[in-house]
Amino acid sequence: MEKREKLYEGKAKVIYTTDDPDTLIMHFKDEATAFDAKKKGVIKNKGVINNRISSRLFKFLEEKGIKTHFVSELTEREMAVKRLDIIPVEVIVRNFTAGSISKRLGVEEGIELKTPVVEFCYKSDELGDPFINASIIKAFGFANQDEVRRMEETSLKVNKLLSKFFDERGIILVDFKLEFGRHKGTLLLGDEITPDGCRLWDKETKEKLDKDRFRRDLGKIEEAYEEVLNKVMG
Ligand code: TMP
Ligand code: ASP
Repeated sequence: MEKREKLYEGKAKVIYTTDDPDTLIMHFKDEATAFDAKKKGVIKNKGVINNRISSRLFKFLEEKGIKTHFVSELTEREMAVKRLDIIPVEVIVRNFTAGSISKRLGVEEGIELKTPVVEFCYKSDELGDPFINASIIKAFGFANQDEVRRMEETSLKVNKLLSKFFDERGIILVDFKLEFGRHKGTLLLGDEITPDGCRLWDKETKEKLDKDRFRRDLGKIEEAYEEVLNKVMG
């Protein structure tokens, strides 16, 4: 496969076209942002680590029957993915309180939820990724009823699979964000699954091993990402 031109540059990734119109190359950068890109920085080697973590997790999910855009890991920082028509919705799944749900409902972080929570947000930095619901997604034509149902079902299935995967490696999957898109009419899981878009806590010490270390200036950011990589590969 041959790399062609840059199609899109996001906050943490660059997307390139290839000689195959159905396949794109996703390049992982070291740049990190938080709070809708109001905070910017660099996490050394993050691109390499996130490419490896995401590839490993997509392979695992594919083995378990989840349809994703993952094709192959190409280089240190690049993976081949199926071209998607991205649905502009972020699906957030939570197992424990943390971050925005703690703020919104005035509860401390780290409380185990009785059942997993699924939330939808509209992908827009300018608007601060506002909270939306299934009714809004359908009314604005972001996705149809069947797609909304499948996004929710798949996200809960991914949650079950990844919670167990991380638990076996000494990590609590607190919450995470997924994105979906259409490829030749089929709904596929897209984007990435990395410590940038998941909250991961050490099971024993409850230490944060994710982007909250950057968001909250907790230090030892590279070390945390490295630790997740080692555990995910182990
Ligand atoms: P939140 O508590 O800020 O709503 O975030 C929940 C989870 O979703 C957390 O693991 C971070 C992830 N997330 C993203 O990756 N990108 C986003 O734009 C948002 C809002 C959350
Ligand atoms: N990734 C989003 C941003 O860059 C939100 C976050 O992860 O905090 O603002």
